[in-house]
Amino acid sequence: MTDHPILDLLRNRWSPRSFSNATISSEDINILLEAAIWSFSGGNLQPWFYIYAHRGTEGFENILNNLSGGNQGWAKHAAVLMVSLAKKERDPGKPNLWSKHDLGAANMQMVLQALSMNIYGHFMGGFNSAGMAETLNIDTTVYEPIACIALGYLGDPEQLEETLKIRETEPRKRKKIDEISKLI
Ligand SMILES: Cc1cc2nc3c(=O)[nH]c(=O)nc-3n(C[C@H](O)[C@H](O)[C@H](O)COP(=O)(O)O)c2cc1C
Repeated sequence: MTDHPILDLLRNRWSPRSFSNATISSEDINILLEAAIWSFSGGNLQPWFYIYAHRGTEGFENILNNLSGGNQGWAKHAAVLMVSLAKKERDPGKPNLWSKHDLGAANMQMVLQALSMNIYGHFMGGFNSAGMAETLNIDTTVYEPIACIALGYLGDPEQLEETLKIRETEPRKRKKIDEISKLI
């Protein structure tokens, strides 16, 4: 699949929509959050925050209800839903220009750690940011919700409705190296 031999963990990561009904233990969630903690960040400011809930709880429904309709259709089967937030300022009145960069890196560490434990993560930008902030009592002067994450063990794609089933099983596509880099 790849043109060059990257790490198995990187090659094997993908964003599924089918999840089994297995739950994720609290200890395993702590391992995922610990993986995020150990990411790099500008000035070591660690400008990230995670709000999460297990399926079957009110918190889960609160996150789910603020996802876009298309995402709700499959994300309702996730074991855990998370909202990842970036801190806006480094000091009062001074924006942190790299907080979204750092959050993305921490998020990647989390999903790669997850994958090593057979837990898959699927990121979602399709959500109602204002609604999420209101429902979850997020102080948007401090934090910006950036991406939601559905986490769970892999399920059977046959459970998905037809269009999602096709997307779930079609080959993944990527740009080539000469499209994304230039040697100078
Ligand atoms: C910031 C971000 C937002 C995304 N938003 C959505 C989304 O709202 N719904 C969805 O189904 N997938 C979403 N995705 C998943 C991407 O579509 C997916 O990562 C991309 O197609 C590459 O596929 P892969 O992760 O399986 O390699 C999002 C991914 C990221 C990183």
